Amino acid sequence: MMTERLILLSLHAVTAVLGLGPIVALALLASRRTPPEIAKALVFFSRLIQWALLVMLATGLWLSLLSGWAVLRQPWMHVSLTLYLVAGALLGLNGPKLRRAVADSTAGDLSRVRRFALISCALVGGIVVLMVVKPG
Ligand code: HEM
Repeated sequence: MMTERLILLSLHAVTAVLGLGPIVALALLASRRTPPEIAKALVFFSRLIQWALLVMLATGLWLSLLSGWAVLRQPWMHVSLTLYLVAGALLGLNGPKLRRAVADSTAGDLSRVRRFALISCALVGGIVVLMVVKPG
């Protein structure tokens, strides 16, 4: 049904902006000496991002179902899914690092979190371009 597709597409796009936007906050706020209070906020962002990635997958699969799974056979979708998995793995690795930084009450070295978040920004940017342009 057309309206079902539009509702799902809207949810998919809103989650991409609001749910994955905090990846930028991770990249900006994680540093070599991150105070525990900031690390605490970053743990919350990190959880939000994990949930958003799950919603992206669920709504994405549902949209694919509506197209009779044809879209999943497209090469641009294979590249997108690979980028999605790499970004998911990098962002997932941030969780334990951030929780440890909160547990230590001194400023923690979160430069790896910053690096992984920056790479994920580029990967998500690539996914958006692929999903909009749908090349080949
Ligand atoms: C970081 C993750 C993701 C981002 C940022 C993202 C972004 C987008 C955007 C912006 C669109 C709108 C394209 C348009 O209508 O012009 C879109 C459409 C779509 N996405 Fe995603 N997406 C992500 C993950 C996924 C995943 C994991 C799947 C599949 C399992 C998926 C499947 C789809 C499908 C099927 C469409 C509709 C394409 C069509 O018009 O036929 N997406 N996505």
